[in-house]
Amino acid sequence: MSGGASIRHFIRLQDLSDREVEDVLDLSARFKRGSSRAELAARTVGLLFFRGSLRTRTSLEVAMHQLGGHTVNLTASSDFWSLEAQPGKVMDGEAPEHIRDAAEVLSRYVSALAIRPALDGRSWDVDRRDDKIRAWASHARVPVINMESALWHPLQALADLLTLRETLGELAGKKLAITWTHSPTPSSSSVVNSVLLAALRNGVNVTVAHPKGYELDSGVVDEAHKVAGEKGVAVATEASLDDAVRGAHVVYARSWRSLEVYGNSTLAASRLARTQDWMIDENRMELGDNARLMHPMPVRRNLEVSDEVLDGPRSLLYSQAENRLHTQKGLLSLLLRS
Ligand code: CP
Repeated sequence: MSGGASIRHFIRLQDLSDREVEDVLDLSARFKRGSSRAELAARTVGLLFFRGSLRTRTSLEVAMHQLGGHTVNLTASSDFWSLEAQPGKVMDGEAPEHIRDAAEVLSRYVSALAIRPALDGRSWDVDRRDDKIRAWASHARVPVINMESALWHPLQALADLLTLRETLGELAGKKLAITWTHSPTPSSSSVVNSVLLAALRNGVNVTVAHPKGYELDSGVVDEAHKVAGEKGVAVATEASLDDAVRGAHVVYARSWRSLEVYGNSTLAASRLARTQDWMIDENRMELGDNARLMHPMPVRRNLEVSDEVLDGPRSLLYSQAENRLHTQKGLLSLLLRS
């Protein structure tokens, strides 16, 4: 994990070595089979949400409870105020407190800090720097866990890897189709960036399908090609959802925002209006190789994915969401028990 010699942060999945990812997944599988130990008694994790969450918050709270520890949950705007991230700033604006001070103080109360930072939403050049989560990591004196920044969602990636492993067994040589889906409220591409690199790193061939204008961040694409080269697997981009799904063992559906018109709601809406055919239904799933469906949720029924697929035997969504609990127990255990 990233950080100095004594503090290990978890900002992206790549902060764990291959061996550590395997250890977390093995431990998570044991937790899922019912193994239980109060190994984090007297440990507390602070959860700071600057954006909403259903799964991440609940699964982390339950994970810490089942490990014998506690969480403290703070929601920005209702529980505390905006925080300044910029170093050296003359703080004459809205924020009355700097992340530097909040991180130092909270480090004296808790064993780890989990953060879901707000996105600027106006400029991808700004958001892609992930400044806020990095400011927390640079000032905290306890491990910082990223609960989803603009670029990465490493907790989701761990759950996705466990789900892929449970579904496919050996991952090497399998095919994953990551496909954009239509939604009036597209997310950031953090989940897709994370599962793309996680799958390639585990020997999975990946095809990413999206309409024109929804290309992923160029830095992530470059890294994907580098990892694919190192692992000897294929990574490809398709402009056709059907072509991407053809022969896939798992289809991963997710809507994400266009980076080309990031921050321009008028252009984003007009672009979205031309993409309503990007929905997963049974006909499309039949193009795969007995394909199963993953989606990190929340999912818009009959817009992103049809009811028939979501409620049928191909769907892995509930297991995938359940695996958030087990993999977070594995991670917290590895991170905090020593
Ligand atoms: N997948 C996920 O992170 O869900 P939440 O936004 O509900 O936490």
